[in-house]
Amino acid sequence: MTEVIEGSLYDFPKYYDLLFGFDWKAECDFLEECFAAYAKCSVKKLFEPACGTGRLLIKLAQRGYDVAGNDLNPHAVEYCNKRLKRFGYPEAAVVEDMSDFTPRKKFHAAFNMINSFRHLETEKSATQHFQCTADGLTKGGLYILGVHLIPTDGPRMETESWVARRGNLQVNSRMWCKELDLKGRNEKLGMHLDIYTPTSHKQIQDEMNYRTYTHQQMRTLLKRVPELEVAAIHDFSYEIETQIEIDETSEDIVYVLRKR
Ligand SMILES: C[S@@+](CC[C@H](N)C(=O)[O-])C[C@H]1O[C@@H](n2cnc3c(N)ncnc32)[C@H](O)[C@@H]1O
Repeated sequence: MTEVIEGSLYDFPKYYDLLFGFDWKAECDFLEECFAAYAKCSVKKLFEPACGTGRLLIKLAQRGYDVAGNDLNPHAVEYCNKRLKRFGYPEAAVVEDMSDFTPRKKFHAAFNMINSFRHLETEKSATQHFQCTADGLTKGGLYILGVHLIPTDGPRMETESWVARRGNLQVNSRMWCKELDLKGRNEKLGMHLDIYTPTSHKQIQDEMNYRTYTHQQMRTLLKRVPELEVAAIHDFSYEIETQIEIDETSEDIVYVLRKR
């Protein structure tokens, strides 16, 4: 029989980590390529706002970086810290709001790769987030931000499904747009996760709200924090050789911001 749980995926770090873990190598390689191409300082210390389970922090620690992060979800932070400790690194994640934090030490680069920034619901909290992050960055350091913009022309992706497996565990996920309120700047996403082991099946039914951004709205927001300049723009194909010109059809964008 299927056990149905209405809850947040973020409260289940093991399933989150399995589901979103697959692309870590492309993301980490791209981050390192950005550090080399765009930072005006040597990058050794990293910070990830909304680090979640630390799926990227652990890989970057293993590549020799000094890593730290924050996240609002205590389950995710605990999972992240346990893993860092297990591999011999400091427990460097804290429970904190990414729109209201004082960096404990300066970092050379920050990153937020898969839309987490869009969890911030207002212009004020988004501006504060950039400000806190800019405050922690050293001069010439980078903030690499992956965001799905709302295209104002042409189609947009409304459904995504994928499967992840580790040992006897399989997670099938489907994410879809339930409501798009462009005036209220909110996209409500539905997410169903089917979790199979050889002896059980449960389904987590989740719902998330993401603030919407057209490229113009993002440009307006970025102007509010003049300490950060746009050093380059890429997309989720993570090809360092290919910079993107944003237009009305653009959707998956990676902004490379640099502290002036
Ligand atoms: C899509 S997950 C991304 C996690 C991680 N960055 C990654 O790449 O796997 C979004 C994360 O944002 C966190 N989050 C949402 N609102 C937040 C806030 N205001 N401050 C800090 N973290 C927040 C959630 O708890 C969740 O772990």
